[in-house]
Amino acid sequence: MTHDPSEAIRHRVISTSGTDGRGRYQLLTSLVVPRPIGWVSTRGKDGTLNLAPFSFFSAISASPMLISLSIGTRQGAAKDSLSNIRDQGAFCVNVVTEGQLAAMNQTAASLPADQDEFAFAGLPVAVAETVEAPYVANCPAVLECRLFKDVNLDGTGSLIIGEVMAVRLDPALGTIEGSEYVDSEGLKPVGRLWGSAYTLLGEIKILERP
Ligand SMILES: Cc1cc2nc3c(=O)[nH]c(=O)nc-3n(C[C@H](O)[C@H](O)[C@H](O)COP(=O)(O)O)c2cc1C
Repeated sequence: MTHDPSEAIRHRVISTSGTDGRGRYQLLTSLVVPRPIGWVSTRGKDGTLNLAPFSFFSAISASPMLISLSIGTRQGAAKDSLSNIRDQGAFCVNVVTEGQLAAMNQTAASLPADQDEFAFAGLPVAVAETVEAPYVANCPAVLECRLFKDVNLDGTGSLIIGEVMAVRLDPALGTIEGSEYVDSEGLKPVGRLWGSAYTLLGEIKILERP
């Protein structure tokens, strides 16, 4: 490792406190990439089915098996997904794959809380086994989750931590021999870049650890 100062990049340093919310959002979402997309399905108090994509979505722990979603507000009010997760204490995360990209995008529309978003996007629905939530019946991989923690993010939204109670997998999906790793090329996950930009799975590189 050399420390040749001529190799150092003269970075443009952007102070976050001197940048507006839009600029911060654009920097963050174009640098933390690609992000997986959790397509969250819930049921409203009145039984209405809801489905919406969230790319502030991450795996946080295997035991217990935890995932997180960051759900912002809409004009100061909770989005339908968040209200439903709070009411029911349950949700499913449908993993967005290539075949479902267009339908996923449709479900990002801001629809009234009483409009069925499965019907709106023409998607088949089924009911989870371990939690009170619907899921996208033709989605190859689904996480059935119960609400584990709801962390208030200074009034701008919530970090929802979900405990995965069951994983649903299409039996046609292969696994890497001798493991539970699901074959990525079979899954065909979609990643979100910025705004309306997405990425499909590229070349896979295997690097053994030193
Ligand atoms: C690919 C994609 C990812 C998104 N990720 C998020 C996110 O992480 N957090 C968020 O609050 N909104 C996110 N949105 C916007 C929500 O999907 C949108 O506000 C949706 O209408 C919320 O629906 P709901 O009111 O039914 O919950 C995303 C939209 C798209 C298209």
